[in-house]
Amino acid sequence: MDRIGLKAAARDKVKPLVLALDRAGVSPDGVSLAGLGISVFAAWITAAGQLFLGALVLIVGSVFDMLDGDLARLQGRASKRGAFLDSNFDRLSEAAVYAGLAWFYMEALSWPDSGAVLLVILALTGSLTTSYARARAEGLGVACTGGWLQRPERMVLLILGMILGRHVLKLVLALLAAATLFTTLQRIAAVSRDLGGDPREGPRRPRPRAPDLARPSTVAAGPDAPARPARPRTTPSPTSRRRRRSRPDGEIPLVDPTTTTTPTRTCTAVADPARRGLLVTFEGPEGSGKSTLIRGLADRLRTLGSPVVVAREPGGTPAGERIRAVLLDPSLPELCPETELLLMVASRAQLVREVVRPALAAGRIVLCDRYADASVAYQGAGRGLGKARVDALNDFALAGAAPDLTLLCLLPPAAGRRRCGDRDPDRLERETAAFHERVYGAYLAMAASGDPRFRTLDATAPPAGQVEQALAHLRGLEHDLLTGL
Ligand code: TMP
Repeated sequence: MDRIGLKAAARDKVKPLVLALDRAGVSPDGVSLAGLGISVFAAWITAAGQLFLGALVLIVGSVFDMLDGDLARLQGRASKRGAFLDSNFDRLSEAAVYAGLAWFYMEALSWPDSGAVLLVILALTGSLTTSYARARAEGLGVACTGGWLQRPERMVLLILGMILGRHVLKLVLALLAAATLFTTLQRIAAVSRDLGGDPREGPRRPRPRAPDLARPSTVAAGPDAPARPARPRTTPSPTSRRRRRSRPDGEIPLVDPTTTTTPTRTCTAVADPARRGLLVTFEGPEGSGKSTLIRGLADRLRTLGSPVVVAREPGGTPAGERIRAVLLDPSLPELCPETELLLMVASRAQLVREVVRPALAAGRIVLCDRYADASVAYQGAGRGLGKARVDALNDFALAGAAPDLTLLCLLPPAAGRRRCGDRDPDRLERETAAFHERVYGAYLAMAASGDPRFRTLDATAPPAGQVEQALAHLRGLEHDLLTGL
């Protein structure tokens, strides 16, 4: 996790360096490259037999490795490309250092220590497989940052071992080998759990429900969607359902919302007589334009005579707005992920009971700016708390008030950040580029999940065009409230 552990602890300390590099006009790529160069130099010194000096140089290289992300954010240049290069340079740096150590144990001593060389190979393998497990999981849209040893901890242990000499270093290498391989296993187990099935077969599909004659059954679907049973109101929550088979990395289902091919569904409200209204939620990364879209859509629906209630999360009630103030306060960087999740869910529980349920019972259309899926993306994936934990809390807060439709406003984080411009970022907007990439990855995974509740919008379209797209998706719900739209 980016914010927990050594990296977060060291971040404040290196802030002056980041500012100095910015003033000197250094680019984030330059810093990444310098970090790699310095690590390779450290490896060379180590290979030449200077273990202690190699450790000191490696400290400098590791500091450089920490600076590039913060510098990119400071200069507004954080990008996927930068994150990709940085991640690869980090792996290459580690490989170089381990190669230097292997050479040290083979050549710099009066006789080769093959046991130590084996430990070097195992520690290197463990550190690469740990990173590979994460990269592969994120490619499949699942966050994977946990485990015993993350890179900063690995580097600190390694440098300490090098400083304390070759005998202690051997013990450290043995510890690193065991712990990194164990971390890989932890990650494999966690991701397999999240994907919900046999890792060889990919994520499990939901078991079809037994037909229930009291509820509406299958509805006509568009050409791109096979007929599916309608989702009964008893579905615990949108967040507790298993993912359906995911598409290749980052691919979004191509549904043109302005055509009539949008799959239609029997509205879930039919299954719950107490729920006469409709709940439509809006999700997306920072700067994706949800609020403008919701305003435009609400105006349009009201003009057309539909009873609309607009809400937002976190917030939307007097108590919820106070919780929101705490959650977004940049002067509270110490707020831990667990607290953050619980506060998000607390605000949601209040909103559901105070606003959403009464509005649905009164037959209104509720347009909610973020809802349960935001916690799955931000806290589950972004913070690495995991989907299962978030789902359980969401189920508790929602108590059945699941959305009928969720519109995903998809925009890559870098573009969203540019849209936010110069305004003072809140606590979550200040998060690392990697965090926002994980959030975006989770939204992409929802879009690709095949769940008909999720519909994507082109967040780069002009606001009026987005309102049209949203209306087209609403029409697909075929609800009494929407006749005449
Ligand atoms: P907003 O900027 O769209 O109003 O959202 C406020 C911030 O709260 C935004 O950064 C997303 C974040 N958030 C979560 O992290 N988890 C949640 O469950 C919700 C609802 C919002």
